[in-house]
Order: sequence, then C-alpha cells, then structure tokens
Amino acid sequence: MTDILARAEAGERLSPEETATLISLEDGPACRALYEAAYRVKLRHVGNAVYLRGLIEYSNICAKNYLYCGIRRGNGRIRRFELTIDEILAAAQLASEYGYGSVVLQGGERGDARAVGLIERAVGRIKAAFPALGITLSCGEQSLAVYERWRRAGADRYLLRIESFSRALFERIHPADSVFDERLKALKDLRTAGFQVGTGVMIGLPGQTPPDLAADIAFFRDIDADMIGMGPWLPQHDAPLHDDTPETPDKAARRFRLALNMIAVTRLVLRDVNIASTTALQTLRPADGRELGLLAGANVIMPNVGEVEHRGDYQLYDGKPDLDENARSIRIALERSVAGIGEHIAYNVPGTPRHYLERISRRSGE
Ligand code: 5AD
Repeated sequence: MTDILARAEAGERLSPEETATLISLEDGPACRALYEAAYRVKLRHVGNAVYLRGLIEYSNICAKNYLYCGIRRGNGRIRRFELTIDEILAAAQLASEYGYGSVVLQGGERGDARAVGLIERAVGRIKAAFPALGITLSCGEQSLAVYERWRRAGADRYLLRIESFSRALFERIHPADSVFDERLKALKDLRTAGFQVGTGVMIGLPGQTPPDLAADIAFFRDIDADMIGMGPWLPQHDAPLHDDTPETPDKAARRFRLALNMIAVTRLVLRDVNIASTTALQTLRPADGRELGLLAGANVIMPNVGEVEHRGDYQLYDGKPDLDENARSIRIALERSVAGIGEHIAYNVPGTPRHYLERISRRSGE
C-alpha cells in the first residue's frame, strides 16, 4: 500500500487494481496516509484556497424519473416550483455581494423550449449585471444546439455527472429516459460547445464495487474533465432506489469513508482539477463532512444562496442540511469552518480550474 501511494503521489499511472486498492482502504492509519498524500498533491497543484460557487436551485420540475432522485417526475409528494428570472437574479446578486465569485444554476432536467429559454435569459441577465461572476450550469442532458445557446448566453462551465461509468449500473439506476451512450455524447458535446466540463459519480450505490469506482476515475481522466463533483449516494424516502438492508450508522460511516477515499484518489490521479466537497458529504457528517472533504483533496464548496422557502421541495436525498439556514448564516458558518482547518476562502475570483487554464494555454501556444 505504501508503495502504491508513493507512486501515485509521484504522478505515476496506477493499474485499475492498484487504484481499487486505494479506494477500498479501511483502516485508520492507511486512510490518513492516503488523505495526507492527496492533500500534498492538492497544495502543489491548486493550493489551499477554497473556491465558492453560490448554488441557485432554480426549479425542481423534472422530466426524468431516475431511481435515486427525490425530485424525479414520479414523485407526487413535493410542491413543484420554478424561480422567476428576477428571483434567480436576486440570488446571483447575493452571491456577488458575498464575494463568492461564481454561481451554479441547478435544476431538474427539462428540454422543452420554455425551460431552455428561461435558462438562456437568466444566464444572459446574470452576465450583463455581474460580468465578473463565473456561471456554471447543472441542467442535465441536452442537445449540442442547446448547450451552444447557453454557452453563447454567457455560461462558462457545465456539470453533468456520469453517475456511474459502469454501463450496467448506469442502466439499472436510469431504467427509463436516459441512455448511457447519450450521456457520453452529451459530455462530448459540452466540450464541443466550449464549456469547462465537470462530471462525477455517486459513491456507494447499491451493487457498486471498488473496481467500478476505479473505472470511474479512469473515465474522468480519459475525458480530460476540468471539474469533479462526487458524493455518497444517500437513500431518498420518495425514491425507489434502496439497499437490500436497512440504513445503519455503520453503513453510512462506511459510505462516508468511501467518498473521502474517492476524493483523495481522484486528486492523486487528476492533479490540477477542481474537486467539490459536496453537500451529500456534509449530510453524512453535518459537523465536519465538508471540511474532511477539503482535507482529503477537494477545493470547492457550493453554498446555497437561494431563499429558504423552496429548500424542502429540493431534497434530492434525505437529510440534506441547511434546510432552515438562510444564505447569510450559511456564509458565516462556512468562513469559520474553513479557517478552522487552516485554509482560506478565495473571494471575488471565478476560480477557474487550473486544469482548464493549462489546456487553453497549451492550445494557444501550439
Ligand atoms: N444521493 C446522492 N446524490 C444524489 N443526487 C441525486 N440524488 C441523489 C441521492 N439520492 C446527485 C446526482 C446528481 C446531483 C445533482 O445530485 O449525482 O447528478
């Protein structure tokens, strides 16, 4: 293990088996050594500044019925909402005032002309009002033409998780409405449209194995991802995907460790990308989950900047924290907790992934 870790830290390419070995580490000292190595690689390649993205959950209306997700079309037990452009703009303004440097517009997956037009106009208005603010979209699978429209409107980045690079597992959790090859094509189209591209997976899905997760990381590398967002899979009470056995604290703790291991190994393999310490991680350990994510190699946090009013209807999974916390108190807590682990927040910068900047500069130098 020590040898594998040393080679990974030095930037050597690991075999799938070696990658899976690191991902499956369980014992305390071994895991600590993994996180420390990943942290050193993070310091070397991206530093210890945390970039923030103000998260705007603009709508829970969704045309898809993915098995794991709380806002799936088939869930009749939530109130559906969609923010107006002015409400989206107000949230972006808050992010800008707080010095967050960038925003993420995230919502249910819809391809109808109205929804596409709403995003396009919202992006255009944000860009016009706050030209320095980075804009990320997380609006699911769309056609190349739609991606191009949103890019032209001023969006810089796009998050589209592959959820799992195991075709069998992907098909099991997306039995209708989504096709593995189309997801791959969408990720390619995002690049063609000129976005900084982010992807990621859920960790600890029923039936997922360490070799599956090792293949996920190889996939991130192969598509040259700029950003990674990953978190533990969490059961959702209104969603049909469940484990065979009931959820226990022990299972949750194991999934949390697996998620930290994935962040660390992803940092060791991908080096200079942005990696989010996600809300799902915080959900499993509200007191320090996100901070442990940063210490295992992540460098991005996405604090919510939306109104509290709609939080209850945007529960992709159970136990989502900050249901009653307004953007201001979230910000104060975050500032304190980041300082508490000896890192600092990079305010008022878009936080463009180093990996993307390097690729662009290589290209223009050719
Ligand atoms: N547990 C963990 N993550 C989830 N997501 C959706 N539902 C769940 C769940 N039950 C994640 C997906 C999606 C992102 C927006 O939220 O990975 O890409």
